[in-house]
Amino acid sequence: MKKWGILTLCLVLAGSLLAGCGNKPSEQAGDTTGSTSEGKTIVLGTSADFPPYEFHKMVDGKDQIVGFDIEIAKQIAADMGAKLEVKDMDFKALLGELSTGRVDFVISGMTPDETRRKQVDFSNNYYKAQQAVVVREADKDKYKTMDSLKGVSFGIQTGSIQEDIAKSIPGAKITGLGKINDIIMQLNSGRVDASIMEKPVAEAFIKNVKGLTIAEAVPEYQEDGYAIGVKKGNKELVDQINKTLDRLKSENKIDQFVSEASDLAAQK
Ligand code: ARG
Repeated sequence: MKKWGILTLCLVLAGSLLAGCGNKPSEQAGDTTGSTSEGKTIVLGTSADFPPYEFHKMVDGKDQIVGFDIEIAKQIAADMGAKLEVKDMDFKALLGELSTGRVDFVISGMTPDETRRKQVDFSNNYYKAQQAVVVREADKDKYKTMDSLKGVSFGIQTGSIQEDIAKSIPGAKITGLGKINDIIMQLNSGRVDASIMEKPVAEAFIKNVKGLTIAEAVPEYQEDGYAIGVKKGNKELVDQINKTLDRLKSENKIDQFVSEASDLAAQK
């Protein structure tokens, strides 16, 4: 009963952007790219709740994980002559899965902050973005400055840097959730009053979910870049990944992947 209620809400709210509601870790046999003569498979860990970076989408009648991080992962696999397998999980589980070797690399719009650098190794940065505050449209005028967010209730993805940002707001009441889809639902239904996420993600959600908008208040965060994580000490893989990133940057492919993924995220 409860489950169906949630499912219905998912469908009502945002169609396929919210696919993956229910929070079950799901695995998707990734797309095959390049030759796989040695039968090598490389496993990507990601939290596919982050359009246009990584998100679920019905493509040809099938639920697929798509987005520009996924396109980058495909290129890395292709350059290695490996088959790509994508594992979707809560964001907070990613670094642990990397350390235990259950995934080979993590691409998940991840900010390579100091704490994480102690746990895992990172590639060079491949993209960057600013932070944004998402609120209900009806409340937009209330939240013009960071000061106005004091004491407000936030829905925040557990384990994200947005937790640190929210904690730095005096009196902020923080509800931690595993998936951003669930935060969007809580915001819409009034159980929390704001959320913080990267601006491209905020833009993708507000396009698809009626009644939400981006507030004028802009959180500052010292790190604005994203990098790809590998198990600590796996220099060979970091070098390989950096080579692919250099190639993609020189071919202007990353911007192309971003714009294609944004279009895909905007489609109903
Ligand atoms: N950039 C933020 C961080 O590294 C949020 C990333 C969330 N990514 C995701 N796929 N949900 O903490």
